[in-house]
Amino acid sequence: MNIIRAKINDAKDIAKIEMNSGYKHYKSFDALKNTLKLLKEENLFVAKDKGKAIGYISLKKNKNVGEISFFAVIKKFQNKGFGTKLAKFALNYALKIKCKKIVLSVKNTNLKAIALYNKWGFIIKRKLRRKNKKYVKLIMEKKL
Ligand SMILES: CC(C)(COP(=O)(O)OP(=O)(O)OC[C@H]1O[C@@H](n2cnc3c(N)ncnc32)[C@H](O)[C@@H]1OP(=O)(O)O)[C@@H](O)C(=O)NCCC(=O)NCCS
Repeated sequence: MNIIRAKINDAKDIAKIEMNSGYKHYKSFDALKNTLKLLKEENLFVAKDKGKAIGYISLKKNKNVGEISFFAVIKKFQNKGFGTKLAKFALNYALKIKCKKIVLSVKNTNLKAIALYNKWGFIIKRKLRRKNKKYVKLIMEKKL
């Protein structure tokens, strides 16, 4: 498996990863449009296994703060350590570009992701409740 900076011709594959990760998106979510926006505005890394794009992670820098806004692995490739490798890559990259901390938000119902973030040293800083939503968004943070 290798991790590379995503390019425009990875956009369709990344959109497929997002839609095949098992994540429950809101109805109008457009994965390709979202990916094209990420390619323009953020650092986007894609993991390829034997040439096939199987996971990706995004990292945005704002002042000294890095934010992971999208992170997904295709369902059938999950639980094989690819997610951990992608996250480690993004955390190293964040250090390289001099981020002091990393933040992310995760639904309180996403127990697997929360367990991973805890394992990597993220702690819950805030909880965001939104009207008409069954879940609460947890804002998690890790100092680098
Ligand atoms: C989060 C995600 C990227 C992780 O990718 P992955 O390739 O499966 O991650 P890894 O294989 O490195 O790690 C999986 C770990 O989760 C654990 N796990 C699996 N199911 C779990 C569950 N229901 N609850 C808690 N832990 C769980 C595994 O045991 C493994 O733990 P370990 O590292 O201690 O062995 C992937 O699950 C995903 O794409 N989810 C859908 C999108 C998503 O939720 N993204 C995050 C949005 S904030």
